[in-house]
Formats: sequence, structure tokens, C-alpha cells
Amino acid sequence: MPSVLAVLSFVISTVLSASIPLHTRWNEPSFAPTHGANFPISDPTHGTDFNIHDPSIIRAGDTYYAYSVGHHIVIHSAPSLSGPWKRVGTVLEKDSVIPKGDRKAPWAPTVLHAKGKYYCYYSVSQSGSRNSAIGVATSLTPGAGQWTDHGVVAQSGKGPGSGGIPFDRANTIDPSVVIGEGGKAYLTFGSFWTGIWQVPLGDNLISLDFKKPAQAKHLVSDAPAAAGSVPEPLNSDPHGPNPVEGSFISYTAPWYYLWFSYGNCCDFDPKNLPPAGTEYSIRVGRSKSPRGPFLDREGKDLANGGGAVVYGSNGDTYAPGGQQVLKDGDTDILYYHYLNKTIGYSFNDARLGFNPLKYVDGWPVAV
Ligand SMILES: *[C@@H]1O[C@H](CO)[C@@H](O)[C@H](O)[C@H]1NC(C)=O
Repeated sequence: MPSVLAVLSFVISTVLSASIPLHTRWNEPSFAPTHGANFPISDPTHGTDFNIHDPSIIRAGDTYYAYSVGHHIVIHSAPSLSGPWKRVGTVLEKDSVIPKGDRKAPWAPTVLHAKGKYYCYYSVSQSGSRNSAIGVATSLTPGAGQWTDHGVVAQSGKGPGSGGIPFDRANTIDPSVVIGEGGKAYLTFGSFWTGIWQVPLGDNLISLDFKKPAQAKHLVSDAPAAAGSVPEPLNSDPHGPNPVEGSFISYTAPWYYLWFSYGNCCDFDPKNLPPAGTEYSIRVGRSKSPRGPFLDREGKDLANGGGAVVYGSNGDTYAPGGQQVLKDGDTDILYYHYLNKTIGYSFNDARLGFNPLKYVDGWPVAV
């Protein structure tokens, strides 16, 4: 869950490295506003009035279900992506069983339908800390009332399993799961610190199948130097901002696409917006393997600062991010949260937006 954490960890890391002025950081080549400009787009955001952050949406029959941060992970349903969206209940009946972070209102859930069950991966953390955990709950139905919380899948910072690569340097939030060939599943996660990592999941999809460090893939980072040094402090990243988060992997033959959000996510001051192009945008790389490496349009590895912008601020739309891709019949739909410049820039102003995707030379374009 990007949100407040991203902002705080950025602020904290900036303060701790005060000898390097902020504008210098933002002017590093990969932070240059032009990095994100001129993404191809043929249609603006299909907007809604549904307030949400980091949406995860599935379709079951004719009903769409959206899962999001909120007390006990909130579930909404609707007859179409445009709405009307109605609150139907929560995933958890009580606080997460994981004794960490914001267990009352876990962040950035991702729901997966696989092997006859619904899996809801969620994260518990605190703003500006990587003492975090990814948990999972399962249910036979997508709505409320039948979920079982299984607790920790992976954790960073403190607790069993947090000592080795990648958990000694990563932040276990923003989980998503991709199922590759032969049904092998992988958990992809991360925010700030060393960016996005991936580890194999067991066949039960609720625990890791992780025995040696080489099974951990470092998939996205804007600060390559950060990968080499351990351990990262819990409450700040001395390498400065590495604002990549919200990863999600979609598959449209023959490519796996790794989507992520880049930049400043939220809590904008309309009188003092960050330099254009440094606010959230939606970026992508692709690979023939769910394990990467994922390369952008120019052939640059996302693990080394790559990432082609597929969608960013345009028209009324500001700072789109927290994206995932829904397979809706024959159409892939990119959905995300965004701010409407004519409405407001605060955290709670974020709403659901979406664009169908078309693929040009194997690269997704929002239409
Ligand atoms: C933004 O809000 C204005 C005013 O309510 C509305 O006309 C416009 O369609 C909205 N745009 C988006 C992308 O939501």
C-alpha cells in the first residue's frame, strides 16, 4: 500500500540524507520529468465516483468485486466497472492475526481466484517502516462472511524468516501473485527500500516455497546501488528515494508484463505540487518468464531503473497508480486509482479509473 508509507519513507530518507539537496535527487537522470512524458494514449481515463486506493478487482459471473484498504479490508461489488459500487462487507471478521503494523486495516490487498478458492493477500505495516508482513486469507466465495485468515506468508524487518535475502532489505507490502507454467506460483512484493522482489510460493498458495537466496528475484529498482548493502535500516532507506511499488504481473501471450507505480503517490498539496512527471505514473516491462528479467521498450531492465510509462497524468487525471489488470472476457483492462484535478488532491479524493488495453508490437497502450 503505497499511500502514506511512501510519502513518509521518502520524507524520512530525504531528511536523513540532508547533505544531498532534494532537487539534486529529483534531477538524477531516472527522476527527470521527461522520463515519464509522452506515453501513448488514445483515450482519457474512464472515471468513476468510487473512492478507492490500490484497488484489486475480480469478476465472478456477472459481478465485479473490488477489495481495498479499510477496516478489515473492504469489499465492494458492482454490475460493471463503471458502477454503481456498493459496500458488501469485509474480508476479515476481526483484526489480522499478524501482530504487526496496521492490523485493523491491512493495506493493498490483492485477490486471486485459483484452485477453486479465493485468496486475499494483504499487508500490515506502518508508515515509514519496513517492519511489515504479507498475510493471506482464503474463502470459497468472493463476497463477505466466509474468509479464513491464515496469517503470515512472508515478513521483513522483524520476526521469523525476516533475516535473509530478500527479507533483510525489502519491504513486504503490496503483494501480488502470478501463476506461471505448470501452475507454479510466485509472490511479488515491495515498496521503496530496495524495490520489488519475487519469491516462489508453495502449491497451497498460502506459504513460501523458498529454500535458497537464488530463488529470490530482484525485479524492479530505481536505485541499483541499494541492492548490494545489507541490512537496510528498518525506518529509513539511506540510499534515498526508490519510489517503486504496487507491482502486478499480467500475462498476455507470449509476454508476462510487470506493472508498477512510480513516484509520489499521494497527499499532494495543490499549492505545491511536485515537479511534473515525478507524481505517480504507471509503468511496465515485459518478459517471457514470470521470473523476469523484465525489460522496458528500450531494452532497459526494470531492476536497473527501466520502466516505460503506459499511463500518467493527463487532462483531469492526476497521479494514476496502484494499478492491476483485469481479464474481462477477451479484453485486458488496466484499472487504477487517480485524482481528478477539478475535485481534489487529498488521499480520500482518489477514485477508481480504468482503460482497456490494446497491444502494439507487444506493448500495452491504454485506450
Ligand atoms: C473530473 O471531474 C469533472 C467535474 O466533476 C468531470 O466533469 C470529469 O469528467 C472528471 N474527470 C475524470 C477523468 O474523472
